[in-house]
Amino acid sequence: MPATSHKQEKLGEVKNEVDDLARSAGSADELIRRIVKLLHEQKLKYNWAGFYMLEKSPAEQSPMLVLGAFQGAMTPHSRIPLNQGICGAAASTGKTVVVDDVNKDPRYLACSIETKSEIVVPVFAHDEVVGELDIDSHFPAAFGHEDRQLVEHCAELVGKYLEKIPG
Ligand code: SME
Repeated sequence: MPATSHKQEKLGEVKNEVDDLARSAGSADELIRRIVKLLHEQKLKYNWAGFYMLEKSPAEQSPMLVLGAFQGAMTPHSRIPLNQGICGAAASTGKTVVVDDVNKDPRYLACSIETKSEIVVPVFAHDEVVGELDIDSHFPAAFGHEDRQLVEHCAELVGKYLEKIPG
């Protein structure tokens, strides 16, 4: 079987598992925790997976991305302003950012010297960015079209779940 179709099959299986999680999770926190655990453990070359949530508390000078549930090595970047990093770029533009070689991107905030590529997908609830899903890989250009679709699907499920919570 060619490598690409094996990968597509694997990504399809993971998507089904994520859909199951979204149906069975008892809270948004649980869904978030289970998604990062699943993505991290599936041998998809996703070596760090975590959510940052957007904090707009009045005490803050400006909105801040705050590290939530994650799997992988502890990162020095537990709070990221919107004008910093790949994370800040994705949250401030509301667009997915895929970086094939983090060492060539001046925006990159290093988490681990092993990281080679990264994807960050904003989470929207009620048409506003409320957080993002960040995944790092030890492999260059690890995030192809199908990976992007899977990660965007995960972010969308979390956004839809958050929309159901009465504000
Ligand atoms: N690399 C990110 C920072 C977060 S760590 O990767 C977990 C960035 O450039 O924003």
